Amino acid sequence: MQNPSQGSLFFSEPPAPSLAPADARERLAALRDAIATHDHRYYVLDAPIVSDAEYDALYRELQQLEAQHPGLIAPDSPTQRVGGRPLPEFPAVRHTVPMLSIRTETDTEASGARAFDARVRRELGLEENDPPIAYLAELKFDGLAVSLRYENGVLVQGATRGDGETGENITQNIRTIRAIPLRLNTGDAPPPATIEIRGEVYMRRADFEKLNDRQRAAGEKTFVNPRNSAAGSLRQLDSSITAKRPLSFFAYGLGEMAGWKLPETHGDVLDAIERFGFPVDKHRQRVLGADGLIAFHQNIAALKDTLPFDIDGVVYKVDSLVLQQQLGFVTREPRWAVAHKYPAQEQFTTVQQIDVQVGRTGKLTPVAKLSPVFVGGVTVTNATLHNEDEIKRKDVRVGDTVIVRRAGDVIPEIVAVVIERRPEGTHAFEMPRQCPVCGSAVIREEGVVGAYCSGELFCPAQRKQALLHFAGRRAMDIEGLGDKIVEQLVDKEMVQSAADLYRLTQNDFLGLDRMAEKSAANLCAALEKSKLTTLDRFIFALGIRHVGEATARDLAQHFRSLDALMAADGATLVAIHEIGDVMAESIHSFFSEPRNRDIIAALCAAGIHWPDVAVAATTSGPLTGLTFVLTGTLPTMSRDEATRRIIEADGKVTGSVSKKTSYVLAGEVPGSTLAKAQSLKVPILDEAALLRMIEKPAS
Ligand code: IVH
Repeated sequence: MQNPSQGSLFFSEPPAPSLAPADARERLAALRDAIATHDHRYYVLDAPIVSDAEYDALYRELQQLEAQHPGLIAPDSPTQRVGGRPLPEFPAVRHTVPMLSIRTETDTEASGARAFDARVRRELGLEENDPPIAYLAELKFDGLAVSLRYENGVLVQGATRGDGETGENITQNIRTIRAIPLRLNTGDAPPPATIEIRGEVYMRRADFEKLNDRQRAAGEKTFVNPRNSAAGSLRQLDSSITAKRPLSFFAYGLGEMAGWKLPETHGDVLDAIERFGFPVDKHRQRVLGADGLIAFHQNIAALKDTLPFDIDGVVYKVDSLVLQQQLGFVTREPRWAVAHKYPAQEQFTTVQQIDVQVGRTGKLTPVAKLSPVFVGGVTVTNATLHNEDEIKRKDVRVGDTVIVRRAGDVIPEIVAVVIERRPEGTHAFEMPRQCPVCGSAVIREEGVVGAYCSGELFCPAQRKQALLHFAGRRAMDIEGLGDKIVEQLVDKEMVQSAADLYRLTQNDFLGLDRMAEKSAANLCAALEKSKLTTLDRFIFALGIRHVGEATARDLAQHFRSLDALMAADGATLVAIHEIGDVMAESIHSFFSEPRNRDIIAALCAAGIHWPDVAVAATTSGPLTGLTFVLTGTLPTMSRDEATRRIIEADGKVTGSVSKKTSYVLAGEVPGSTLAKAQSLKVPILDEAALLRMIEKPAS
C-alpha cells in the first residue's frame, strides 16, 4: 500500500489528534462527505473505490472525532444511521422492527472474543464464579441483508435493509430466489399471523464465476466479487434479470412477529426457521464462554477458504432470548451480538511495473509487480495477469490502483482496476514483439490465448525446462539428470542445448554442487545409454509445442525417418489423419528454425541413433486379450499413465473386477477391489510386474 498521506480521504489515517474546534468542524464535514460518497458507491452503485479497511478507518476517525466533540455531531452524520439510502426507483418499506447492525471486533481472536464475553457478563452483573454464558456462533455471510415478511404463512414482502429504518421493496426480485420459500412449511400447525425472516442474500463463488463468464461472453459488465454481484442482481429494476442470476440465501434471525410462540433460545429460533423451509447454515454452533467462541473462530478460520461462499467473519450471539432482552441495545447495535472479522481477502494497492515472464512452453505471462500489500494473511508483491487478453480486458496499467484478492492458497489476482484513481499519462499494456529473454519473435496463434516466444530450445528461460523434458523418463530417459543439475548446467553456461549434454565429461559433473564421484559416473553412463533410443521418443524429446507422446508416435510411424519428417511441409503434415492445422504449423515452424536444425544435427553427431521404425503390427501387443482393473496408488505411475501403458500394449482397462478380469493391478491403500479380486481368485500384480509384462517383446 502507498504511504498514507495525511488528510487523505482515500487512505487510512493515524488516530485523530485532538483538533481545535474550527479544524475539527472542517475535518468532520470532509469525513461526512467522503463517507457519504463511499456509501453511495458501495450500497447504491455497487462500485466502491476504497477498500473496506480504508472505509472503516474513515468511519472510525469520524466516530473518534465526534466522541471528542459531541456538540459537532450533525444529524446527517453517517454515524447517525446505518447503511445507504433506498434507491428512489424502489418503493420504500418501513421496518417496524429496525434492522440493526452488529458491532465489529477486528481485534485478535482471543482478545476480541474475551472482550465481548467480559462486556456481556458485566452488563448482566455476573461474578467470576458464575457459569459461562451460552452463545450461538454463526458465520458472517458476505452478501446483502434482507427482511422477508410472511403473513399467514405466505411471502408478502421482501425488503433490503436500507438505512435500517427504511429499506427498498424488492419483493418481485426476492420471489425469484429459489432458496426462499414462497409459503412457510408449518406442517399441520397454523402458520404465524405475521413473521419476518431476516437473513443474507449472497452468491456462491462458483456461481459468481459462471455469471461473470456469461457476462463477459455477452459483452456486459462483470462484477468485482460475489458480494457486489449479489447486490447488483438483487437491485435490478427488471426482476426477469434477477431471475437469471444465481442468488442464494441464509436465514439468521427474526424481525416483526405476531401469533407465534417464541422459543427460549436463538438456536431454537434458527432450528424453527430451518423447519419453515429456509436454508440455515450448518456451521452454527452453541458454545460456552469466551473459550468456546475462540475455538469456533479458529475452526472456521481453518475451513473458510473451502466454503463454497464468501464469509468475512463470524458472529457471536447470546443464545438465551431472555438474556438478549436484558442486554438490550446501544444506539443501533445490540449488546448481545458481535461480529468478529477475518483479515480482508481484498486490498487496494498500486501497480509498479508489469513484467513478462517466459514459461516452460515459451508462453509469455505478464506479471504485475505490486506495492507490497498485506492481504489474505500474507504480503503480496506479485500478481499474475495470465495473458494479454486478460490484461486488455481488465486494462491494468503501470501506476494503476487495483483491487488484489488472495483467498487461501490461491495465487493472488488482480480483481479490477479503480479507474477513478488512474494517474495521468498511463499507457495500455502491450505484449512485447520480441521475447524479453532471448529476443526471438513472439508468436500468437489464432484461436489460442496467449503469446509465445518462438526461440524454443534456444531461449535460456525455456532451456532448463526443455532440458528436463528432454531428459525425462518418457523422452530420452537420462536417469539422474534432475532439476538441481540442469539448473546448475544452464546457470554455469555449461549447456546451451540438449546437444551439449553429450559433450560433458565426468570431470564437468564433478565440478557441480553436491556431486560425488559415483553419481558423476552414473550420469555419464546414463547419457551414454540414452543414445540408443527410438525415433518416436526422440521426436517427443525435442519438445515441439503441441507434440505429445502419441503425436510423436504417429509422426514416427508415418515418416519412419527423421529426415523425411524434417522435410515435410505444412500440407504433408495436415494430410496425416491425426495432425491438425495448429499442430502442423507448430511442427513445420520448429523444423524450419535453423537453430533447431543445428541442435538436431549435433545430437545425431553425438551418437544418438535409433533402430528402423517397424511397421506397427495391427492389433497385437504384449497385453493383447488381457483385461486389467486398477486399485490403490502405484509407486511411480499415475493411474492415467498406467492405463495408457496398458492400452498401448493392447490390453484393456475396466472399472470393476469380474471373473473375466485377467489381472488386478494393485498399489498402496487398495480399495475393496482387492478383496473382491481375492475372492474371485483373480491374480494380483504390482507395478513392477506389469512393467515386466509390457516390456516383454510381443509374441
Ligand atoms: S445478525 C441484530 N447474523 O452483518 C443482529 N448478521 O451488521 C442483526 N450478517 O448486514 C444481524 N451474517 O446482514 C447477523 N449470521 C449473521 C450474519 C449477519 C451476515 C450481516 C447482516 C448485516 C451485518 C450486521
